[in-house]
Amino acid sequence: MNSGRFITLEGTEGAGKSTAAAAIADWIRQRGIELLITREPGGTELGEKLRALLLAPAIDAPVPKAELLMMFAARVQHIERVIQPALDQGKWVLCDRFTDASFAYQGGGRGLGAQSIEVIEQWAHPDLQPDLTLLFDLPVDQGLKRAARRSGPDRFEQEKLDFFSAVRDAYHQRMQRHPTRIKRVDASMNETDVLSQAKLMLEPLFVD
Ligand code: TMP
Repeated sequence: MNSGRFITLEGTEGAGKSTAAAAIADWIRQRGIELLITREPGGTELGEKLRALLLAPAIDAPVPKAELLMMFAARVQHIERVIQPALDQGKWVLCDRFTDASFAYQGGGRGLGAQSIEVIEQWAHPDLQPDLTLLFDLPVDQGLKRAARRSGPDRFEQEKLDFFSAVRDAYHQRMQRHPTRIKRVDASMNETDVLSQAKLMLEPLFVD
């Protein structure tokens, strides 16, 4: 039985996705639904260790292919240990980033392209796709301005405008490819309006 729902949140830096995640989780729980909130890379002990390795600025930083495989290593652990068991128990899972992020950051940002990622995705999780993905979208320069207010940028946040433009383009391509699953949230609006848009898009999930 799999009556749970799998919802993922995506976006470029400074899109307000993580703030929205907490509010969305509260709102779903208020409707009497058991929901697990989690994130990628991360969500398991191993995944969080991989996250630390992936995000820390380093001289011997992972090359793009290594970076991609580390993301998927964390993901497979997360799916088998956390996500799938929760869905099988009928819980809803709200995940801050998932495989679309690999298409965007490694496929687009790092230039690995979509084809090799499709092959890995097909092997790593052939039977699992989100029921709904909210893409928190805003112009890259706006997002970077917001993100700059945070201290101590991680390895991805240290990237330049070109990188994030390629990430955003790749997200748009994903949205064109999966128009039913991936819905755009205009993240340039204020927090309240962003949340209202997200709720509207989530509403159909409550219907059996
Ligand atoms: P966060 O900013 O949402 O916490 O995510 C951490 C970073 O990891 C973010 O810069 C995007 C990056 N990332 C990838 O590059 N590929 C992936 O597959 C995932 C899940 C995240």
